[in-house]
Amino acid sequence: MLNQRLEKELNKQINAEFWSAYLYLSMSAFFENKNLSGFANWMKVQYQEEISHALKLFDYVNERGGRVFLQPIAAVDSEWKDVIDVFETTLKHEQHVTSLINNLVNISIEEKDHATTNMLQWFVSEQVEEEASASDILDQLKLIEGKGAGLFMLDRELKQRVFVPIQDPDK
Ligand code: FEO
Repeated sequence: MLNQRLEKELNKQINAEFWSAYLYLSMSAFFENKNLSGFANWMKVQYQEEISHALKLFDYVNERGGRVFLQPIAAVDSEWKDVIDVFETTLKHEQHVTSLINNLVNISIEEKDHATTNMLQWFVSEQVEEEASASDILDQLKLIEGKGAGLFMLDRELKQRVFVPIQDPDK
């Protein structure tokens, strides 16, 4: 059984994951508007990933006999200066999410809830990937100064990204 403190904190994280999904869907709409369909696709896949993160936590809270309380999702930005600005925002946001996950791990250790600490390790690894992929695209964008033929090529590359559902060995 999940204790109350962890139930509350995991509920907060469910909301944070839905907020992330909302942010990336807004970025996808921004790119659609700029006719950058590859970037729009990449962000839409990112949105799907965030939904899957929220659902993984949703399922976990229920599995542990806790209660999910869905809260309002705060508004997100819809305008950015340029493509580089979008990915700087993305990287900064993922670094923030990493700190939220690390904080959750600390709380689960304080509460001696080993099952939650164990479940959160998946998120710890996922955040390494999340930061690396945002940082990788940001580096490429800086190299091509976010424009021209380089941007066109990168847009084509990002069109290839597809959503891969979480492989859960427990399910
Ligand atoms: Fe759910 Fe992008 O971390």
